[in-house]
Amino acid sequence: MFVARTVEDLQKTILDWKLQEHSIGFVPTMGFLHEGHLELIRSSQNICSKTVVSIFVNPAQFNDPEDYRKYPIDNEGDLKKCETSGVDLVFLPEKEVMYPNLEGNITLTQIDLQRNLCGRTRPGHFEGVMLIVSKLFHLVSPNKAFFGLKDFQQFRIIEDMVTLLNFPIEIHGVPTLRESDGLAMSSRNARLSSKERETASLIPRMFALAQRLIENGEQHPQTFTEILGDFLLSSASIKIDYIEAVHPRSLQIANDLKSDFLLAIAVFVGNTRLIDNQILKSKNL
Ligand code: PAF
Repeated sequence: MFVARTVEDLQKTILDWKLQEHSIGFVPTMGFLHEGHLELIRSSQNICSKTVVSIFVNPAQFNDPEDYRKYPIDNEGDLKKCETSGVDLVFLPEKEVMYPNLEGNITLTQIDLQRNLCGRTRPGHFEGVMLIVSKLFHLVSPNKAFFGLKDFQQFRIIEDMVTLLNFPIEIHGVPTLRESDGLAMSSRNARLSSKERETASLIPRMFALAQRLIENGEQHPQTFTEILGDFLLSSASIKIDYIEAVHPRSLQIANDLKSDFLLAIAVFVGNTRLIDNQILKSKNL
């Protein structure tokens, strides 16, 4: 496995592979890898002949400096996991490599897809994601790139960014891997105390309740999200950032629950912010 820390090292290997007509799959990450990331790697390996993983905690996408400071890092463990998983190249740049001190700045934004969910409650977050992902896309120039559907809004924004900016890259969304109680796998789960981890299991139980409400014919998004909110607030240590039922492509608030919709939530368990998303099938009344 190659480990590239500079753009020159990265591009030398990529160029060799392109000359040999390899198809390059890319999995961008912020490290602290878990099974969910390994699933993205496997998805790439299934359809590409070379897989590149980047590990970079991107300061531009944190709207809370404390959240950035506390983001878990384990480069040594991550490299071992990549090696064992058969990754071909890891790009592990320092901050100065991705953000050299150049004059000027550039911002990418997508107003419509950012109106709701994390776009509303984490201003600047998706601008930071689009900036780093487009920089990485230019540097790695993959054929395909793989993103987890747990971050559904991120996936939709990247999907549209690639079309709007003509990146010749196919974007693949990979279904969320879950713990045995249904909690979505996330690097942030490592920050939960055992008591908080117990509280977090209310999230998958809330999704099960949502499914039952739909099966029982609930059609009003506001009543629906209020019931779900009350369920979560049965634990004093959960704070709701948002619970929204939105259209799965436009991410605009659903007018009713008569067609399939995305149920998206972000909550704080203690100081840890967790998100989850699931597309719920309507009862087609
Ligand atoms: O999903 C993530 O881990 C990050 O947002 C990404 C795509 C690696 C960009 O920093």
